[in-house]
Amino acid sequence: MTEKSHTLLVLGGSTDQLFMIRTAREMGLHTACLDGNPAAPGLAAAHLSAPIDFSDLPAVFQWIDRQEKIFGGVSTMGSDVPHLLAAIGARYGWRAPTAETGRLATDKLAMKECFVAHGLPVPRFSAVESGADVRRCWSEWGCQRVIIKPIDRAGSRGVLLVNDDQDIDQAVAHAAGQGLSGRLILEEFVPGPQISTETVIGNGQAHTPGFADRVYEGMESFHPQIMENGGWLPALCQGQELEEQVVGLVEKAAAALGVNNGAAKGDVVVCPQRGPMMIEMAARLSGGDFSEGLVPLSTGVNYVRTVIEIAMGMDPDWKALEPRQNQVVANRYFFPCAGTLEEVDLPREFVDREEVVKVVISYQAGDVIPVIRSHGDRAGVMVIVGDSRGQVQDLVDLGYEKVRFKIDGRWVTGKPQQ
Ligand SMILES: Nc1ncnc2c1ncn2[C@@H]1O[C@H](COP(=O)(O)OP(=O)(O)O)[C@@H](O)[C@H]1O
Ligand SMILES: [Mg+2]
Repeated sequence: MTEKSHTLLVLGGSTDQLFMIRTAREMGLHTACLDGNPAAPGLAAAHLSAPIDFSDLPAVFQWIDRQEKIFGGVSTMGSDVPHLLAAIGARYGWRAPTAETGRLATDKLAMKECFVAHGLPVPRFSAVESGADVRRCWSEWGCQRVIIKPIDRAGSRGVLLVNDDQDIDQAVAHAAGQGLSGRLILEEFVPGPQISTETVIGNGQAHTPGFADRVYEGMESFHPQIMENGGWLPALCQGQELEEQVVGLVEKAAAALGVNNGAAKGDVVVCPQRGPMMIEMAARLSGGDFSEGLVPLSTGVNYVRTVIEIAMGMDPDWKALEPRQNQVVANRYFFPCAGTLEEVDLPREFVDREEVVKVVISYQAGDVIPVIRSHGDRAGVMVIVGDSRGQVQDLVDLGYEKVRFKIDGRWVTGKPQQ
């Protein structure tokens, strides 16, 4: 990196990308940010910015070309745009995912086929177009439940669990309507604990500093939608053989997708009979709390920094990924009922506690909260730290009791109904 090319270009300036901009600044780098929304907070947080929609590549190229040669690389977090990073990286010779990685990582069917071609375990799957296709696969697989998804969405959008033949046709129509292309994938539903991972890859090395158990308690109330309710760090299997197996699997999965530089975020299910299997992998850093909050709180490690080093062509400091502490951390979401939000009660006896690191409500008085069917509609999050799962669980329970929403004249909690 020369003196002149010390600026990191960050795609997106929403709250999801602020942590990356802040981290880059702490590293002594200059930052630039593009976001189509002129009010995006990242535009003000970066040294240089423009209200440009970063998916408009000709406009992005024109803007970059107008600057002096100040850039050393491009990156983002939380935004699932490896294909845009690929196009920008390829044009300017910066380290970024390849176009093929971008394609595989944003098409659930191509991704599963790629994993199979590399001998990696995945739930049984098939492309489907109709209820008849679903019935044929389901009876062939002989599993209890199947899950249908648009191939090109994220955040559980359009993902439906099917346990009953009667629900198939509606599920196909719903998933197709939620997708961008209308193409669908059917999978056997694999019961078992699920783990979220985040792997950082660069200079021929892979490390997986992000590792958490996912929580599904209470999620039956969302049926047929399927959404996790946050997670636990450290995961129960850490320090055991299963951790090694999962890490081995996600690092191979990242290699299969061709992620040579950057981050890969894995969803793994641990089948009681067949062991860990890949549900999916995104070629990007997580948004929300995972990489910016939960992992740093639990282990003291900020691997967004490492991803920035890789994007900027620097030598990654792998030593910085060694855990420095081991604290229990949980995040849980608020899922109140639908209706017009009139007021939120955030009692100080809960939010002011030292262990309560974060409580954020995503709606304001006057907003209409929809029936929450995907993560994009969630009503908020709490993040809690402590010395043991028992202690943290007590505070989670307290948060669900104390944080209340007044909706259409009635006070309710955000706890998913059991
Ligand atoms: N084959 C499967 N077996 C068990 N659970 C699954 C399966 N596929 C998806 N899920 C559940 O549904 C969630 C959403 O599906 P996923 O493929 O990760 O889509 P998204 O891109 O919306 O996150 C997963 O996090 C997981 O909990
Ligand atoms: Mg997922």
